[in-house]
Amino acid sequence: MDTFKLRKAEPKDVPDIFRLIKELAKYEEMEDHVLLTEKDLLEDGFGEHPLYHCIVAECHEEQGTGEIKVIGFAMYYFTYDPWTGKQLHLEDFFVVNEYRGKGIGSEILKLLSHLAMKTRCSSMHFIVAEDNLSSIEFYKRRGADDLSQQEGWRLFCFNKGSLLKMAAPAEE
Ligand code: ACO
Repeated sequence: MDTFKLRKAEPKDVPDIFRLIKELAKYEEMEDHVLLTEKDLLEDGFGEHPLYHCIVAECHEEQGTGEIKVIGFAMYYFTYDPWTGKQLHLEDFFVVNEYRGKGIGSEILKLLSHLAMKTRCSSMHFIVAEDNLSSIEFYKRRGADDLSQQEGWRLFCFNKGSLLKMAAPAEE
């Protein structure tokens, strides 16, 4: 039987993290939105002040080649809420199809919950696509509140074009 291990990602995991980011984007039918490169991931996640952190799930094959492969990940970072303080933001969460339903996702959430408590976070936030019903149900079964529904928050973004426009010097 294969065994699974969760661990904090290291720089050597960047190609696997990149692969899984693209797989999740594909799952969400937004693969063409992935503009990041492995170089960006390496620079942004493993310097002195990492902008994100990752947990990776490894599968250790007990038979055959004894191969170790990364089959899931969670990307997260810390944010700050002016009402409640430090929060853990879960950005990406993915387990490859053939390994789903074996409890790996639940173990990752357990580890993140432990980390959130250890680092004095008031909550764990995340965004789920409205049509990702299986994932919405997965989170709800574990007690997640749907803030869009309950509190009516809407997600906004200034894209680069808008930023450039606003940042441009005012015309004389
Ligand atoms: N695929 C998915 N779920 C299954 C399967 C299967 N083949 N078989 C059974 N399940 C059930 C399990 O019984 C379990 O039910 P429960 O909630 O009653 O316990 C649940 O689905 C899966 O639980 P786990 O095995 O602990 O979690 P898993 O390892 O499957 O990982 C995850 C969960 C990450 C959501 C995974 O299903 C996945 O990668 N989904 C596709 C990508 C996705 O939607 N990611 C989240 C996007 S939102 C965000 O990133 C913030």
